[in-house]
Amino acid sequence: MAKIILKNAQELDGMRAAGKVAANIRMQLAKEIAPGVSTQELDLFAKDIIEKAGARSAFIHYPGPRGVPKYPGYTCISVNEEVVHGIPGDRKIRLGDIVSIDVGVVYEGFIGDNAMTVPVGVTDMKILELIRVSEQSLMNGIAKAVAGNRLTDISHAIEQTVIPHGFGVVRDFVGHGVGRNMHEPPQIYNFGPPGQGPVLKEGMTLAIEPMVNLGTHNVETLEDGWTVVTADRKYSVHVEHTVAVHKGKAEILTLPDE
Ligand code: MF3
Ligand code: CO
Repeated sequence: MAKIILKNAQELDGMRAAGKVAANIRMQLAKEIAPGVSTQELDLFAKDIIEKAGARSAFIHYPGPRGVPKYPGYTCISVNEEVVHGIPGDRKIRLGDIVSIDVGVVYEGFIGDNAMTVPVGVTDMKILELIRVSEQSLMNGIAKAVAGNRLTDISHAIEQTVIPHGFGVVRDFVGHGVGRNMHEPPQIYNFGPPGQGPVLKEGMTLAIEPMVNLGTHNVETLEDGWTVVTADRKYSVHVEHTVAVHKGKAEILTLPDE
């Protein structure tokens, strides 16, 4: 496995600044989510505020797999059965939807990557539980991102949080190291046994991002080559923070100002 890039104090400051920008944009974008608004309108709003912040999207024109066009959006917006990498378009938000927004920015050479799932007038308690449990799984994963632990301690904590609720943890997509590039080693699975993989060290910066499905964990990719949906078309939640590993306690880099 390729070497995990450790960040020195100055680089960590760069990651803090990028994380802050990404988090503030995520929160501003979340407030624009409402019935009748299209995901394209949300994406263009995000483009605007990303530029006003002196940053740029880390996603636009990101290369896809062989034969798939480069990613066309500034953000990823995934509605209901869409798991991740939803391409913004004509789809309008409706009451009862859940909307996952994924915001990654490059700011002064460093990347902040974060996501959240916003319920829009959702009353179904099972869906609200899905969101709450997914957020808890992220926090429990982050709690394991401390120096001296092993990488899959994070993976295991995420899965263990979800299992008692009977939801499905997506296996085909992973979290990742992040720094000057959006995807650095290591890949971070959201399931599996603890105590494996590299020992975590001070100065590692990781994007931890569980994707949790109401039903089956199985997913498919649509014809556009990007949009990942649940195999059973039931709802899915995606939450993500960029964190820095330290001794004793992880530092969440993508907390917004307010
Ligand atoms: N946050 C996602 C990731 O970490 C989204 C990037 S996909 C892209 O992989 F194509 F839009 F860049
Ligand atoms: Co990510």
